[in-house]
Amino acid sequence: MSFEQMEKLKTKLPEWLETSRLRTGQGDVAAYIPELAKASRDTLGIHIADSQGQTVSAGDCGVPFTMQSISKVFTLILALMDHGEEAVFYNVGKEPTGDDFNSMIKLELVEPGIPFNPLINAGAITVSSLIAGDSPEEKSARILHFFRKLASNERLDYNMDVYHSELETGDLNRSLAYFLKQNGVLKDPVEDVLSVYFRHCSIEVDCSDLSRMALVLAFDGVDPHSGEMLIPRRYIQIAKTFMVTCGMYNASGEFAIDVGLPAKSGVSGGIMALVPGQYGIGVVGPSLNNKGNSIAGVHLLERLSKEFDWSLF
Ligand code: DON
Repeated sequence: MSFEQMEKLKTKLPEWLETSRLRTGQGDVAAYIPELAKASRDTLGIHIADSQGQTVSAGDCGVPFTMQSISKVFTLILALMDHGEEAVFYNVGKEPTGDDFNSMIKLELVEPGIPFNPLINAGAITVSSLIAGDSPEEKSARILHFFRKLASNERLDYNMDVYHSELETGDLNRSLAYFLKQNGVLKDPVEDVLSVYFRHCSIEVDCSDLSRMALVLAFDGVDPHSGEMLIPRRYIQIAKTFMVTCGMYNASGEFAIDVGLPAKSGVSGGIMALVPGQYGIGVVGPSLNNKGNSIAGVHLLERLSKEFDWSLF
C-alpha cells in the first residue's frame, strides 16, 4: 500500500463507512434461508489487506458471516485444479444469464441444458459435484482445507445452523439439482451433491478472512505473505473474469461501471473484491438491495474506487 493511500485510508475509512451505513435502512436482510434473517440490518464492516501485511479496517469487520455464493469462486478454482478447463466447461458454460441466481428457466429452454455459468446456483451445484473425492465428506473436507489455506486461517469452519437451515428449506436448489440430474449433468445422488454445496456456502468467515482470500486472487494465485503458489495463474484469470461478468448477479454490469473491480457477493451480505496486484478486500453488510447485493457495501466500494481511481476500465 502506498504511504499516502494508507494514511488517507486510515483517517477517512471510518467516516466513509458511516456515510455508507446510512444506506442500510433502504435494504433488507435475506430471509429465504431462515437462519440468515437473524443478521443485523445495520451491520457494516470492511477489511483491506495488502501484500506486505498492512491492513486497514473499519466498522463491524469482526462480525462472522457465511460465505454463501462467494464460496463459488473458490470451488470453481478447486474443480479446475482437479480436472482442468475442458472437463469443467463441458458441464457448465461461461456466459451471464440475466436471470435470477436460482432460476431454472434456461436449463429447460437452452440446449444442451447445462448451467450458463459456475456462479449461478445451478452452475455452482454442478461444480460441487465435480470436486474430487470418493464421498461428500471427502469432497467437503478438501474444500474446507483449500479455503483454510487461502485465508491463512486453520480455524475456518462451517456454521452448522446455517447449513441445516438451508438443508431444510433449499427446495428450489433441490429442484435445480434434480433437473441437472435428469439432463445428465449430475452423476452423483442429488442429496450427496447438495450436502457438499450447502456445506461450502455455510463456511463462516469475517472480513479479514475474505480480504486474505481475495489477496491470493489479486496476486495471481500466490499468497504474497508466504510466497507460496496456491492457484495456477490461468485459473485466477478465469475466476476474475467470472467475477467481473457474473459476480454481482444481474448488477454486474452496473458494478463494473460504478466500481470496476472483480468482486463476488453472497446473500449473507458479504462482498469479496480485489484490486489486482494491490489489495484484497472483505466487506460485510447484510442489508441487501433489490439486486441481492449489500446495499451499503456496494456504496462503500464505489466511494473507495472513485477516491483512489481503482477501476480497471
Ligand atoms: O443456494 C443458495 O441460495 C445460497 N446458499 C447461496 C446464494 C447466494 O449467495 C447467491 N448466489 N448466487
